[in-house]
Amino acid sequence: MPPAEKPLTAMGLRDLRELARHRMPAEAWHHFMGAAESSSTMRRNQRLLGRYLFRQRIFHDINDPDTSIELFGRKLPLPAMVAPVGSFSLIGDDAERQVAEGAGKRGVMMFVSHAAKFEVRDWAKATAAPLVFMGYLSRGREAVLEQAKSAEDLGFAAVGITMDVVQPVKIGDEVPLSTKDGKPRKGQRASLKDIEWLKQRVALPVVIKGIMGAHDARDAVNAGADALIVSNHGGRLLDFNRAAIEALPEVVDAVGKNATVLLDSGIRSGGDIVKALALGARAVLVGRPVGWAVGAAGADGVARVMDLLTEEMRRVLIMTGTPSVRDISESMLIAESSNGRVR
Ligand SMILES: Cc1cc2nc3c(=O)[nH]c(=O)nc-3n(C[C@H](O)[C@H](O)[C@H](O)COP(=O)(O)O)c2cc1C
Repeated sequence: MPPAEKPLTAMGLRDLRELARHRMPAEAWHHFMGAAESSSTMRRNQRLLGRYLFRQRIFHDINDPDTSIELFGRKLPLPAMVAPVGSFSLIGDDAERQVAEGAGKRGVMMFVSHAAKFEVRDWAKATAAPLVFMGYLSRGREAVLEQAKSAEDLGFAAVGITMDVVQPVKIGDEVPLSTKDGKPRKGQRASLKDIEWLKQRVALPVVIKGIMGAHDARDAVNAGADALIVSNHGGRLLDFNRAAIEALPEVVDAVGKNATVLLDSGIRSGGDIVKALALGARAVLVGRPVGWAVGAAGADGVARVMDLLTEEMRRVLIMTGTPSVRDISESMLIAESSNGRVR
Protein backbone atom coordinates (compact mmCIF):
# COMPACT_ATOMS: atom_id res chain seq x y z
CA MET A 1 0.00 0.00 0.00
CA PRO A 2 1.45 3.47 -0.81
CA PRO A 3 2.39 5.21 2.47
CA ALA A 4 -0.16 8.02 2.04
CA GLU A 5 -3.03 5.46 2.14
CA LYS A 6 -1.89 3.66 5.27
CA PRO A 7 -3.18 4.66 8.68
CA LEU A 8 -0.46 6.32 10.75
CA THR A 9 -0.47 3.45 13.25
CA ALA A 10 0.58 1.06 10.43
CA MET A 11 3.41 3.27 9.16
CA GLY A 12 7.03 2.38 9.62
CA LEU A 13 9.93 4.81 9.49
CA ARG A 14 10.44 4.16 5.76
CA ASP A 15 6.78 5.11 5.10
CA LEU A 16 7.13 8.30 7.13
CA ARG A 17 10.32 9.20 5.27
CA GLU A 18 8.66 8.61 1.89
CA LEU A 19 5.64 10.69 2.86
CA ALA A 20 7.88 13.47 4.19
CA ARG A 21 9.75 13.53 0.88
CA HIS A 22 6.47 14.41 -0.87
CA ARG A 23 5.08 16.71 1.81
CA MET A 24 8.15 18.68 2.91
CA PRO A 25 9.28 21.77 0.99
CA ALA A 26 12.09 20.65 -1.36
CA GLU A 27 14.57 22.97 0.34
CA ALA A 28 13.82 21.47 3.77
CA TRP A 29 14.12 17.90 2.41
CA HIS A 30 17.53 18.70 0.90
CA HIS A 31 18.68 20.34 4.14
CA PHE A 32 17.53 17.46 6.36
CA MET A 33 18.84 14.67 4.15
CA GLY A 34 22.16 16.35 3.48
CA ALA A 35 25.57 15.64 4.96
CA ALA A 36 29.08 16.95 4.42
CA GLU A 37 30.73 16.43 1.02
CA SER A 38 30.51 12.76 -0.08
CA SER A 39 28.15 11.81 2.84
CA SER A 40 30.59 9.04 3.77
CA THR A 41 30.24 9.76 7.50
CA MET A 42 26.44 9.77 7.41
CA ARG A 43 26.36 6.43 5.58
CA ARG A 44 29.00 4.97 7.88
CA ASN A 45 26.92 5.83 10.97
CA GLN A 46 24.22 3.41 9.85
CA ARG A 47 26.48 0.88 8.18
CA LEU A 48 28.52 0.31 11.33
CA LEU A 49 25.41 -0.06 13.49
CA GLY A 50 24.38 -2.72 10.98
CA ARG A 51 27.53 -4.73 11.69
CA TYR A 52 26.22 -5.73 15.13
CA LEU A 53 23.93 -8.74 15.33
CA PHE A 54 21.79 -9.86 18.25
CA ARG A 55 22.18 -13.10 20.13
CA GLN A 56 18.66 -14.62 20.07
CA ARG A 57 17.39 -16.39 23.20
CA ILE A 58 13.93 -17.96 23.39
CA PHE A 59 13.76 -20.12 26.53
CA HIS A 60 12.57 -17.55 29.04
CA ASP A 61 9.28 -15.96 30.07
CA ILE A 62 10.12 -12.34 29.36
CA ASN A 63 7.23 -10.78 27.44
CA ASP A 64 6.84 -7.30 28.91
CA PRO A 65 10.30 -5.71 29.06
CA ASP A 66 10.81 -2.38 30.77
CA THR A 67 12.15 0.27 28.38
CA SER A 68 12.18 3.11 30.91
CA ILE A 69 15.27 4.86 32.23
CA GLU A 70 16.18 7.67 34.58
CA LEU A 71 18.21 10.54 33.21
CA PHE A 72 19.05 13.88 34.84
CA GLY A 73 16.66 12.98 37.65
CA ARG A 74 13.72 12.37 35.27
CA LYS A 75 11.97 9.09 34.65
CA LEU A 76 11.68 8.59 30.87
CA PRO A 77 9.61 5.97 29.01
CA LEU A 78 12.35 5.29 26.46
CA PRO A 79 16.13 5.72 26.22
CA ALA A 80 15.66 7.75 23.02
CA MET A 81 15.23 11.51 22.86
CA VAL A 82 14.71 14.24 20.29
CA ALA A 83 18.07 15.62 19.12
CA PRO A 84 18.61 19.40 19.01
CA VAL A 85 17.68 20.52 15.48
CA GLY A 86 17.87 24.22 14.68
CA SER A 87 15.96 24.06 11.42
CA PHE A 88 12.64 22.31 12.08
CA SER A 89 11.05 25.63 11.03
CA LEU A 90 12.17 24.99 7.41
CA ILE A 91 9.60 22.17 7.34
CA GLY A 92 6.74 24.50 8.21
CA ASP A 93 5.86 27.53 10.32
CA ASP A 94 4.29 25.30 12.96
CA ALA A 95 6.87 22.48 12.89
CA GLU A 96 8.70 23.42 16.11
CA ARG A 97 5.45 23.48 18.06
CA GLN A 98 4.40 20.16 16.51
CA VAL A 99 7.67 18.44 17.46
CA ALA A 100 7.26 19.76 21.00
CA GLU A 101 3.66 18.53 21.15
CA GLY A 102 4.58 15.10 19.73
CA ALA A 103 7.42 14.63 22.23
CA GLY A 104 5.06 15.76 25.00
CA LYS A 105 2.42 13.20 23.99
CA ARG A 106 4.90 10.41 24.72
CA GLY A 107 6.86 12.10 27.52
CA VAL A 108 10.19 11.64 25.70
CA MET A 109 12.98 14.04 26.51
CA MET A 110 13.64 16.79 24.01
CA PHE A 111 16.96 18.56 23.44
CA VAL A 112 16.31 22.00 21.97
CA SER A 113 18.72 24.01 19.85
CA HIS A 114 19.82 27.58 20.32
CA ALA A 115 19.52 27.90 16.52
CA ALA A 116 15.76 27.25 16.57
CA LYS A 117 13.18 30.00 16.12
CA PHE A 118 11.66 29.03 19.48
CA GLU A 119 13.47 30.22 22.59
CA VAL A 120 13.50 28.24 25.83
CA ARG A 121 10.34 29.98 27.06
CA ASP A 122 8.44 28.96 23.89
CA TRP A 123 9.53 25.32 24.21
CA ALA A 124 8.47 25.20 27.84
CA LYS A 125 5.06 26.58 26.92
CA ALA A 126 4.62 24.18 23.98
CA THR A 127 5.35 20.86 25.67
CA ALA A 128 5.05 18.68 28.73
CA ALA A 129 8.23 16.82 27.64
CA PRO A 130 11.32 17.12 29.84
CA LEU A 131 13.67 19.60 28.13
CA VAL A 132 17.40 20.17 27.73
CA PHE A 133 18.75 23.41 26.24
CA MET A 134 21.78 23.14 23.91
CA GLY A 135 23.50 26.48 23.28
CA TYR A 136 25.69 27.60 20.41
CA LEU A 137 28.61 29.85 21.39
CA SER A 138 28.46 31.46 17.95
CA ARG A 139 25.54 33.42 19.45
CA GLY A 140 27.88 34.78 22.13
CA ARG A 141 28.50 33.67 25.71
CA GLU A 142 25.95 36.11 27.12
CA ALA A 143 23.18 34.76 24.89
CA VAL A 144 24.03 31.17 25.90
CA LEU A 145 23.98 32.10 29.58
CA GLU A 146 20.73 34.04 29.31
CA GLN A 147 18.95 31.07 27.72
CA ALA A 148 20.60 28.60 30.14
CA LYS A 149 19.48 30.64 33.16
CA SER A 150 15.92 30.89 31.79
CA ALA A 151 16.02 27.15 31.20
CA GLU A 152 16.90 26.63 34.85
CA ASP A 153 14.05 28.87 35.97
CA LEU A 154 11.63 27.04 33.65
CA GLY A 155 12.47 23.62 35.08
CA PHE A 156 14.62 22.19 32.29
CA ALA A 157 16.45 18.95 33.15
CA ALA A 158 19.91 20.01 31.92
CA VAL A 159 21.70 22.61 29.80
CA GLY A 160 24.72 22.37 27.54
CA ILE A 161 26.68 23.47 24.52
CA THR A 162 27.07 21.94 21.07
CA MET A 163 30.82 22.33 20.56
CA ASP A 164 31.64 20.40 17.39
CA VAL A 165 30.82 23.17 14.91
CA VAL A 166 34.47 24.20 14.78
CA GLN A 167 33.76 24.29 11.06
CA PRO A 168 30.25 25.08 9.81
CA VAL A 169 27.79 22.40 8.73
CA LYS A 170 28.12 21.44 5.08
CA ILE A 171 25.43 20.01 2.80
CA GLY A 172 27.30 18.39 -0.08
CA ASP A 173 29.80 21.04 -1.13
CA GLU A 174 27.82 23.99 0.21
CA VAL A 175 27.75 25.76 3.56
CA PRO A 176 24.05 26.58 4.10
CA LEU A 177 22.90 29.98 5.35
CA SER A 178 21.85 30.25 8.98
CA THR A 179 18.11 29.62 9.46
CA LYS A 180 18.08 32.19 12.26
CA ASP A 181 19.59 35.27 10.56
CA GLY A 182 20.12 34.22 6.92
CA LYS A 183 23.86 34.97 7.13
CA PRO A 184 26.55 32.51 6.07
CA ARG A 185 27.36 30.08 8.89
CA LYS A 186 30.82 30.29 10.41
CA GLY A 187 32.87 27.84 12.45
CA GLN A 188 33.22 28.40 16.20
CA ARG A 189 36.45 27.58 18.04
CA ALA A 190 35.88 25.06 20.85
CA SER A 191 37.51 25.96 24.16
CA LEU A 192 37.56 24.02 27.42
CA LYS A 193 37.35 27.40 29.16
CA ASP A 194 33.77 27.71 27.88
CA ILE A 195 32.85 24.47 29.65
CA GLU A 196 34.43 25.69 32.92
CA TRP A 197 32.66 29.03 32.47
CA LEU A 198 29.19 27.49 32.03
CA LYS A 199 29.71 24.93 34.80
CA GLN A 200 30.49 27.72 37.27
CA ARG A 201 27.30 29.58 36.43
CA VAL A 202 24.55 26.94 36.36
CA ALA A 203 23.32 24.38 38.86
CA LEU A 204 21.86 21.97 36.27
CA PRO A 205 23.93 19.15 34.75
CA VAL A 206 26.11 20.43 31.88
CA VAL A 207 25.97 18.47 28.60
CA ILE A 208 28.67 18.78 25.91
CA LYS A 209 27.75 17.61 22.41
CA GLY A 210 30.09 16.56 19.63
CA ILE A 211 32.65 14.27 21.30
CA MET A 212 34.27 11.68 19.03
CA GLY A 213 37.17 10.25 21.04
CA ALA A 214 38.74 9.56 24.43
CA HIS A 215 40.98 12.64 24.47
CA ASP A 216 38.22 15.18 23.98
CA ALA A 217 36.03 13.20 26.36
CA ARG A 218 38.57 13.36 29.19
CA ASP A 219 39.26 17.05 28.55
CA ALA A 220 35.54 17.93 28.57
CA VAL A 221 34.85 16.00 31.78
CA ASN A 222 37.91 17.46 33.52
CA ALA A 223 36.62 20.92 32.55
CA GLY A 224 33.28 20.19 34.25
CA ALA A 225 31.01 18.36 31.79
CA ASP A 226 28.50 16.08 33.54
CA ALA A 227 27.30 14.42 30.33
CA LEU A 228 28.76 13.98 26.84
CA ILE A 229 27.03 13.30 23.56
CA VAL A 230 29.12 11.08 21.31
CA SER A 231 28.10 12.48 17.94
CA ASN A 232 29.47 13.38 14.53
CA HIS A 233 26.51 15.73 14.02
CA GLY A 234 24.83 13.17 11.76
CA GLY A 235 27.78 13.36 9.36
CA ARG A 236 27.30 17.06 8.63
CA LEU A 237 30.75 18.29 9.67
CA LEU A 238 33.69 16.03 8.82
CA ASP A 239 33.56 13.73 5.82
CA PHE A 240 35.29 10.39 6.51
CA ASN A 241 34.85 10.73 10.26
CA ARG A 242 34.38 7.54 12.26
CA ALA A 243 30.83 6.40 12.89
CA ALA A 244 29.55 7.54 16.29
CA ILE A 245 29.09 3.90 17.32
CA GLU A 246 32.82 3.27 16.62
CA ALA A 247 33.87 6.13 18.91
CA LEU A 248 31.49 5.14 21.72
CA PRO A 249 33.46 2.33 23.45
CA GLU A 250 36.63 4.39 23.92
CA VAL A 251 34.63 7.33 25.31
CA VAL A 252 32.83 5.01 27.74
CA ASP A 253 36.18 3.50 28.80
CA ALA A 254 37.70 6.95 29.29
CA VAL A 255 34.93 8.73 31.22
CA GLY A 256 32.02 6.34 31.74
CA LYS A 257 32.55 6.20 35.49
CA ASN A 258 32.53 10.00 35.88
CA ALA A 259 30.04 11.18 33.29
CA THR A 260 26.82 10.19 31.55
CA VAL A 261 27.58 9.14 27.98
CA LEU A 262 24.86 9.64 25.36
CA LEU A 263 25.07 8.98 21.60
CA ASP A 264 23.50 10.17 18.38
CA SER A 265 24.14 9.88 14.64
CA GLY A 266 22.53 7.11 12.63
CA ILE A 267 19.94 5.77 15.10
CA ARG A 268 17.01 4.55 13.00
CA SER A 269 15.37 1.73 14.98
CA GLY A 270 14.74 0.26 18.40
CA GLY A 271 17.46 -2.27 17.60
CA ASP A 272 19.95 0.57 17.04
CA ILE A 273 19.04 1.94 20.49
CA VAL A 274 19.75 -1.44 22.09
CA LYS A 275 23.10 -1.67 20.28
CA ALA A 276 24.20 1.76 21.53
CA LEU A 277 23.15 0.92 25.08
CA ALA A 278 24.91 -2.45 24.90
CA LEU A 279 28.11 -0.60 23.99
CA GLY A 280 27.79 1.72 26.98
CA ALA A 281 25.54 4.67 26.08
CA ARG A 282 22.95 5.64 28.68
CA ALA A 283 20.52 6.85 26.03
CA VAL A 284 20.45 8.04 22.41
CA LEU A 285 19.21 11.04 20.48
CA VAL A 286 17.42 10.93 17.14
CA GLY A 287 17.69 13.71 14.56
CA ARG A 288 16.51 13.22 10.98
CA PRO A 289 13.73 10.68 11.75
CA VAL A 290 12.00 13.33 13.88
CA GLY A 291 12.22 15.71 10.91
CA TRP A 292 10.65 13.09 8.61
CA ALA A 293 7.94 12.41 11.18
CA VAL A 294 6.90 16.02 11.60
CA GLY A 295 7.13 16.60 7.83
CA ALA A 296 4.90 13.58 7.17
CA ALA A 297 2.29 13.88 9.90
CA GLY A 298 2.97 16.73 12.36
CA ALA A 299 2.80 16.06 16.11
CA ASP A 300 1.15 12.66 15.60
CA GLY A 301 4.01 11.67 13.30
CA VAL A 302 6.53 12.46 16.03
CA ALA A 303 4.53 10.40 18.53
CA ARG A 304 4.39 7.57 15.95
CA VAL A 305 8.20 7.54 15.59
CA MET A 306 8.54 7.22 19.35
CA ASP A 307 5.98 4.37 19.36
CA LEU A 308 7.89 2.61 16.58
CA LEU A 309 11.18 2.88 18.45
CA THR A 310 9.48 1.55 21.58
CA GLU A 311 7.80 -1.38 19.79
CA GLU A 312 11.03 -2.32 18.00
CA MET A 313 13.05 -2.07 21.17
CA ARG A 314 10.56 -4.26 23.06
CA ARG A 315 10.77 -6.88 20.28
CA VAL A 316 14.58 -6.98 20.53
CA LEU A 317 14.50 -7.20 24.32
CA ILE A 318 11.99 -10.09 24.20
CA MET A 319 13.84 -11.95 21.42
CA THR A 320 17.11 -11.68 23.35
CA GLY A 321 15.62 -12.56 26.76
CA THR A 322 16.38 -9.14 28.27
CA PRO A 323 13.90 -8.03 30.96
CA SER A 324 14.82 -4.34 31.15
CA VAL A 325 17.18 -1.60 29.99
CA ARG A 326 19.34 -2.27 33.07
CA ASP A 327 19.96 -5.80 31.79
CA ILE A 328 21.25 -4.70 28.38
CA SER A 329 24.91 -5.68 28.02
CA GLU A 330 27.56 -6.19 25.40
CA SER A 331 27.08 -9.95 25.62
CA MET A 332 23.80 -9.51 23.69
CA LEU A 333 25.76 -8.47 20.60
CA ILE A 334 27.82 -10.34 18.05
CA ALA A 335 30.11 -8.17 15.92
CA GLU A 336 30.49 -8.91 12.23
CA SER A 337 34.03 -8.21 11.08
CA SER A 338 34.88 -6.56 7.77
CA ASN A 339 35.43 -9.97 6.11
CA GLY A 340 31.85 -10.94 6.99
CA ARG A 341 32.79 -13.35 9.80
CA VAL A 342 30.90 -13.11 13.07
CA ARG A 343 32.47 -13.56 16.48
C1 LIG B 1 18.55 19.53 9.82
C2 LIG B 1 19.43 19.35 11.00
C3 LIG B 1 19.66 20.42 11.86
C4 LIG B 1 20.48 20.25 12.99
N1 LIG B 1 20.65 21.31 13.85
C5 LIG B 1 21.39 21.13 14.97
C6 LIG B 1 21.50 22.17 15.94
O1 LIG B 1 20.95 23.25 15.79
N2 LIG B 1 22.23 21.92 17.07
C7 LIG B 1 22.86 20.71 17.28
O2 LIG B 1 23.49 20.51 18.30
N3 LIG B 1 22.76 19.72 16.36
C8 LIG B 1 22.04 19.90 15.23
N4 LIG B 1 21.91 18.86 14.35
C9 LIG B 1 22.53 17.55 14.65
C10 LIG B 1 21.57 16.68 15.48
O3 LIG B 1 21.42 17.18 16.78
C11 LIG B 1 22.12 15.25 15.61
O4 LIG B 1 23.44 15.29 16.09
C12 LIG B 1 22.08 14.47 14.31
O5 LIG B 1 20.96 14.80 13.51
C13 LIG B 1 22.04 13.00 14.65
O6 LIG B 1 22.10 12.22 13.54
P1 LIG B 1 20.80 11.56 12.82
O7 LIG B 1 20.16 12.65 12.05
O8 LIG B 1 21.45 10.52 11.98
O9 LIG B 1 19.92 11.00 13.92
C14 LIG B 1 21.10 19.01 13.23
C15 LIG B 1 20.87 17.93 12.36
C16 LIG B 1 20.04 18.09 11.26
C17 LIG B 1 19.78 16.90 10.36
